[in-house]
Amino acid sequence: MKQITTGTNTTGIATSPLDSKELIEAARAIPPSSPGSEADAAAVRTEYARGSGTVGSVPPPASLKGMVKAAGELLQGRPPALLIDKLGERLQFERSGTRLYEALIAKYDAEGGFEGGPSRADLEAIRDDELRHFDLLRRAMERLGADPTAMTPAADVIGLASSGVLAVAAEPRINFGQSLQALLVAELTDNDSWRMLIDLAVAYGQDDMAAEFRVAEQHEARHLELVRSWLSSRLALDARGAPTTTTPQRAA
Ligand SMILES: [Fe+2]
Ligand SMILES: [Fe+2]
Repeated sequence: MKQITTGTNTTGIATSPLDSKELIEAARAIPPSSPGSEADAAAVRTEYARGSGTVGSVPPPASLKGMVKAAGELLQGRPPALLIDKLGERLQFERSGTRLYEALIAKYDAEGGFEGGPSRADLEAIRDDELRHFDLLRRAMERLGADPTAMTPAADVIGLASSGVLAVAAEPRINFGQSLQALLVAELTDNDSWRMLIDLAVAYGQDDMAAEFRVAEQHEARHLELVRSWLSSRLALDARGAPTTTTPQRAA
């Protein structure tokens, strides 16, 4: 396990008291040359927000069967596009979740685990859960005649929001223990988002769908519990300055 150590970090001002004093004096003496203020910047953002288009759209149902369903029993007076949009969002996140755990497994193989942390099999089991959830959503969308390969607007939004999480997992200099923080962000979102999707499915009269999603929600609750305990163990070990490397358990 790569340890967090004290090193030659020069990002802080305290590294060089003489230079920092000079820097502060110069900043005070020379006003910013560019005109404008925070309020001006906010006004530009507001203008862009008003003038910009939307982030994509939900495609119409791909099949005739889907169209009939969308127009009839599914609707219950509600817009089918909303449910399809949110199913697309969850599908996108579960796909990313699978890749997130894949990336963590690669780091595990490089560094090994730690006391109170996950085994390779633990990580594989969650990765497989996420993949099964992805497939569950794919089937749910297909049953409604929707195209699960389409990026819906909500899928775009969550894809962008979770891009940092994936970047942490993929960055080789961020060690396995540090990368667990990204898992916490993902699993917290997973838990809340399944809950909201279940409520939406119920509102749309999709009781069978909601029942399937409740099983996924139970998995997510377990994922969150595990990730929290791994992070706590990791932190406790780091705080003790304990040696943490164990032999990597590579797949056969
Ligand atoms: Fe998930
Ligand atoms: Fe999860």
